[in-house]
Amino acid sequence: MSAPLKQSEAISQPEPSDVAAASLSQEAIFAEALITSRQNILPKCLSAPGPSATQIDQLFRAAAAAPDHARLRPWRFVLVPEHKRSELAEVFAQALVDRDASATLAQIAAAREKAYRAPLLMLAVACLGPREPDIPMLQRMVSLGCAIQNILLSAHSMEFGSGLTSGQAMSSARMRELFQLQAGEEAVCFINVGTASTRKPAKLRPEPFEFVSSL
Ligand SMILES: Cc1cc2nc3c(=O)[nH]c(=O)nc-3n(C[C@H](O)[C@H](O)[C@H](O)COP(=O)(O)O)c2cc1C
Repeated sequence: MSAPLKQSEAISQPEPSDVAAASLSQEAIFAEALITSRQNILPKCLSAPGPSATQIDQLFRAAAAAPDHARLRPWRFVLVPEHKRSELAEVFAQALVDRDASATLAQIAAAREKAYRAPLLMLAVACLGPREPDIPMLQRMVSLGCAIQNILLSAHSMEFGSGLTSGQAMSSARMRELFQLQAGEEAVCFINVGTASTRKPAKLRPEPFEFVSSL
């Protein structure tokens, strides 16, 4: 396995010419570098060490800073500690067999293995049931997305790699049972955090003109 990446490698700085042109403060430069250099790291590329208890607390404080219409907190996160990974592995395996009775032993083993990859693993749960005020589901999902992004960026600022995973098992009854999801709650994705052993080249991002218009 390659050596963990250094901060300077993980959070690439913008070109000096861009910075000078924009006359940005140091804080703005750092924020931009942090945001634009985050990338999804596959869980198989995330190894120990993961975040400490203090750092995990910091990640959740970042989540708590997400925009949240009417302060519903329409989301929660469920940690999957080491001693519970085998239960999740069984859910992944059984959910695969449920939807494909002809799955091979190798496919079942691969499904099981997904539970053991990242040092820090948590499930992001959307809480979409009846609430007062009844903030629309889309707005609640935006809040969850922001909370997830805050966790990813906070982990990135601590020099950890992170990645999201989902798949068909998310909606399985077995997953609901393991995580004790209530009516109106949905398992959205897993958040994986750890030390990144490799990183891909920076992605080409869409240009603002591609997604911005004016009335
Ligand atoms: C809700 C959600 C679920 C995701 N599930 C998966 C997944 O199952 N497997 C995967 O490789 N990436 C998954 N991703 C990550 C995206 O593939 C990734 O964010 C995308 O490729 C863009 O890459 P970037 O995050 O580096 O910009 C998921 C992202 C979101 C928002």
